[in-house]
Parts: sequence; C-alpha cells; structure tokens
Amino acid sequence: MSAGRPLPVEDTHCIQNPAVDQRSCVHLSATPESAVSPYACQRRTTLENHNKIFTEALEVLALNSEFSGNQGSCLGFRRAASVLKSLPAALRSPEEALRLPCLGDNSRAVLEEICECGSSSRVEEIQNDQRYRTMKLFCSVFGVGPKTAESWFCRGLKTFEQVLTEPSIRLNRMQTAGFLFYEDISVPVSRAEAAALKMMMEEALLFINPSATVTITGGFRRGKEFGHDVDFIIKAPEGQEDRILPAVIKRFKSQNVLLYSDFQKSTFDLRQLPNHRFEAMDRFSKCFLLVKLQMQESRTGRNWRAVRVDLVAPPLERFPYALLGWTGSTLFERDLRRFARLERGKLLDNHTLYDKTTKTFLPANTEEDIFQHLGLEYIEPWQRNA
Ligand code: UTP
Ligand code: MN
Repeated sequence: MSAGRPLPVEDTHCIQNPAVDQRSCVHLSATPESAVSPYACQRRTTLENHNKIFTEALEVLALNSEFSGNQGSCLGFRRAASVLKSLPAALRSPEEALRLPCLGDNSRAVLEEICECGSSSRVEEIQNDQRYRTMKLFCSVFGVGPKTAESWFCRGLKTFEQVLTEPSIRLNRMQTAGFLFYEDISVPVSRAEAAALKMMMEEALLFINPSATVTITGGFRRGKEFGHDVDFIIKAPEGQEDRILPAVIKRFKSQNVLLYSDFQKSTFDLRQLPNHRFEAMDRFSKCFLLVKLQMQESRTGRNWRAVRVDLVAPPLERFPYALLGWTGSTLFERDLRRFARLERGKLLDNHTLYDKTTKTFLPANTEEDIFQHLGLEYIEPWQRNA
C-alpha cells in the first residue's frame, strides 16, 4: 500500500509451515497462491497438471454430486479442482489451500486426507458405490444423461444387457446409436484422428462452398491429445451459414460415412439480443454427428471407426463469440460469463457481448477483442484448460 501499486510477492510474504514434508513437494515461489484469481478466466491453465492426485479426487466428488442432483456442491468441487490445475507446482500442504480461492471446507478436507494418507476414504467409498458406478456406466452412453441413468438405476438395472432386454425401455434414436457404436465411441479420439476428420470436412466444404472454412474447437483447440468428440466451427460467407450444415450432412450421407445425425436449425434472431437468461445451448445452426472414419485396421475388424463430431455454423459477424464459446473449457466459459456480469456489468454468451450500463453491443472481430472489452489479459486457447 505504501508503494501505491501491487508488488511482486516474495517468500517473506508467505506463511511457511515447518511441518511440511519437503521431499514430496515443489515450491510455489513464482506465482504464490495468494495471487490466484477466483475466476478461471484470469488464470492460465495449461494441460500440465501438477496436482492430479487432488484434482482427480475432487472430480470424483463433483461427478457424485452431479449424479445426486446437487449442482451447487458439484460446482464447488469443480471450481476447487480447477484452481489446483492452474498452479505452477504441486500443493505442499493442506494449509496452502487456505490461501487459495474456491477451496471450501469439503474440498480442503479431501486435500488434507490425501496429504496425510495418500488417498481419500470418501472418494474410495464413492468409487465403490453401486449407484455411482452404475450412473457413470450409463452416462457413458451417447444420449444418456444423469436423469435417464438415474431412472434406469432406480428400476434396478445395473448392466447394459439389463437395459437392452428390459421390455419397458424405449431408447431414443441417439441412445440407440450410442449403444450400437458404444465400443467405438468409448475409445478416446486422438489428435491424428481429429486431423483426419478435419480433412474430411475440408473436402466436403470444397465441394459445397469453397469460401467456407473450418476450424477445430473444443479440447483439441486447447491442445488436448485426446477427446470424447471432435468439435468444428464453420466460417461461412455472409448469409450462407444456414445452408452449410445440411449440405455437409447430405454430402456425408452420399459418401456413406454418416452413422447418425441430429441437425438443429438456427433459431438465432438478432432482435432477441441480448439474452438476459443464460441458456446451455446457443441458437446457431449446429449438428451432432456420428461419422465413419476410415482407418487402416481397427480392433473390430472393420476398416473404419465411429467418431462423435459436433459442427456449428454461426453467422459471420457472430464468429468470434461462437469460437470463444466452443473452445471451452466449460468452466472457463462459465467464469468468463460470470466475470463479465459481476465485475464488468456486461452480458457475454456465444452470440454477443452487451454492456448493460451503456446499453450497447460491443463489436468483435477476434477473440482478443472480446477479452479487451472485458478488461482481461488475453488467455490463449491452450491456457484455457480450467
Ligand atoms: P465438449 O463437450 O466437446 O468439451 O464441448 P471438450 O472441452 O471439447 O471436451 P472433450 O475433449 O470433447 O471431452 C466443447 C465446448 O463447446 C461448448 C461447451 O461449453 C464446451 O466449452 N458448447 C457445446 C457450446 O458452447 N454450445 C453447445 O451447444 C455445445
Ligand atoms: Mn469436444
């Protein structure tokens, strides 16, 4: 305060715990915990996670809360895991967590136990719990969410076979495809496979509209080596966005590479902006696909595997907002919107950025423009793995 500006944090500013086992830990000297922001969009989170032992445990707790319909506690555990993922080194002691944001009593209790015993009894208990295991199994099927999984579990079903032979269960189209190609879909998609799919997309666009371009979004844009699907955003020439996806679907069908498609027409309407109520899905033209990817040889003896592919085609002037939204991670996006609203009085979603004070829309040509409007340092996609 006397310097009148923020100073670099030195060791003397940190509370040291003499009881800490120095062998198993790395010092957090460069970026002390006290400097960690409670907003994921103000943290740089790469894929290098020094706190896996803690974050994996917290994610089990988060999933368990989600399965129990406890959204608040789920978010609490996810936030805690996210903060730990952003640290430049492993946590040395549970006491250090006291100086970190977003780590509530429940999360800290787990860290404490892991620091002391190497594992958490609560997490082990959950992992052995029949309900948790069954819910996780059912939710691993494309088209099955926690609600459906729970209703199956409550009817006493525990295996896929029991679900598939239960006469009263009517699977929808998505779930039918999910079971049919379960073996393929449950194998993570590699970066090389994502690149091969991008070439398929480029080939299709060349045929449909050579001025349209395709960009990988989602986890692969953040540098992940594997994903559960491949996300693409299409940049179409002005006014062409609504024609592209039906044409891609038609093209893939004619090439006999489409196993499943769910096309969602655009419901985007400029006059309905800004949207004050957050919606999980945006209104752009999009589709959720199951695509045959040609391979040399596969485990199944076929020369292809099924891959989940998501496509979105926003209007040209909406592209930067949509790209930012589809790049994720989910928690990063959530905190961007929360930061915009609570710290800047602005509304951000996949469609637009709106200033509530001046009642104006803030234009953007790039993702950098959006960060700038929000007064945030630019965070590269590979630093958004919150
Ligand atoms: P994913 O679920 O594909 O996540 O959504 P991911 O980070 O790529 O993870 P893996 O690697 O596939 O497992 C990608 C992003 O797209 C956004 C999500 O919020 C997420 O950030 N998204 C998805 C939207 O913005 N709108 C949608 O309608 C769907
Ligand atoms: Mn993805």
